Amino acid sequence: SLVNVGANNDPYTNTKETDMDKGYAILVNKYTYLPENYAPDDIVEMSNWYAYPNNSIRQEVYDAFKEMGGKLSFAYALLNNENSGYIINSTLIVNSSYRTSEEQKEIYEDYEDSRGKEYADTYAARPDFSEHQTGLSLDVFSPGANMSNFADTETFKWLSENCYKYGFILRYPEGKEEITGYNYEAWHYRYVGKDLAKKVYDSGLTYDEYYAYYLDD
Ligand code: DAL
Ligand code: ZN
Repeated sequence: SLVNVGANNDPYTNTKETDMDKGYAILVNKYTYLPENYAPDDIVEMSNWYAYPNNSIRQEVYDAFKEMGGKLSFAYALLNNENSGYIINSTLIVNSSYRTSEEQKEIYEDYEDSRGKEYADTYAARPDFSEHQTGLSLDVFSPGANMSNFADTETFKWLSENCYKYGFILRYPEGKEEITGYNYEAWHYRYVGKDLAKKVYDSGLTYDEYYAYYLDD
């Protein structure tokens, strides 16, 4: 797997520009970057019903996210009804979404300045190597949850089993850190479209592996 995804090379070596013809399936990782000045042309502002202020995302991703959030709330309304008196907090809120290259640079450099390059590289992508610049990735939480405890929430459990039905995949799974190049991120979801999301989910592979095996040409 490491060889197939290029992760036998040091991060940010042997890099190449990603194939933009892949559309919603484009791969962005530590070996594959976005064209300089790439900016999606269908970015829309997310409403405060779904996201903290100043979040925006590609239109199709927004529609899929709203559909997923609605189903999640409904699933837990039913569950709360059965366990009357026991309220499971099931709201999804977007914490981070589309970022420009400059915004990604700031995020990376904040980590780098406070904790050093090695630490920064396990949490944040360098500019032009971030999926957030595709407008296809969302970081989500439920109220009260954060980076360290979101993985323990019922919301996360539901997302793990259902997000593919809405076109999303968990991009940086637990135990796959060497392949993805990042820490486990329970909150980071990547939109690839419903058909592909189901295939990736069924494969049990990381997206880096799935792309290398089935989509790269
Ligand atoms: N946290 C993810 C890897 C990013 O910065 O794009
Ligand atoms: Zn993210």
